[in-house]
Amino acid sequence: MLDMLLTRRSCRKFEGKAVESEKKEKLLQAAQLAPTGKGTRPWEFVVIENKETLKKLGDCRNPNQPFLPDTPLAIVVLGNTQKTDTWIEDASIASIVIQLEAEKLGLGSCWVQIRLRESNQGMSSEEYVRKLLGIPDHMAVLSVIAVGYPEGLKLKPHSLDEVDHAKIHTEAY
Ligand SMILES: Cc1cc2nc3c(=O)[nH]c(=O)nc-3n(C[C@H](O)[C@H](O)[C@H](O)COP(=O)(O)O)c2cc1C
Repeated sequence: MLDMLLTRRSCRKFEGKAVESEKKEKLLQAAQLAPTGKGTRPWEFVVIENKETLKKLGDCRNPNQPFLPDTPLAIVVLGNTQKTDTWIEDASIASIVIQLEAEKLGLGSCWVQIRLRESNQGMSSEEYVRKLLGIPDHMAVLSVIAVGYPEGLKLKPHSLDEVDHAKIHTEAY
């Protein structure tokens, strides 16, 4: 796991190639095997591959997220606010699990923040995505995970030098 965490970097440039359905399935299985508070499993996912929708999704943020229209696959991560007060944690864990599974499958990915952000259209990012995709009010939109085959050079790996021992407090702060 540490090796993967060192080499995984956010990817914002993708080849045109589609993500194979077996890999897509694995990403969605991984997401639903992520732990949740009290096992409530409050997440749901919207899988987007339609070019027109991806283009519109690019406007979910201000400034827009220029890589979204050229992303082969976007997984919108939702949390059911009526089911649990841990939906933010649960949907966040599912989001990173999708990213780590993508890395394992040789895919690149990037998290696009939706919660508490503004869109290009004068409404919140959440409202914009909700309208675009027909998401009901009780499902909050946490993130969009962009996934695809990386194009060009990968960002340089992380290094153990980034690990800051000053952030670790032993026995008490
Ligand atoms: C909660 C969260 C929100 C993020 N939001 C965005 C975003 O809206 N757009 C984007 O391009 N990257 C976003 N990222 C990716 C971060 O910028 C990136 O993970 C960070 O700079 C570290 O780089 P790395 O992923 O290459 O290690 C987000 C990551 C996280 C965890």
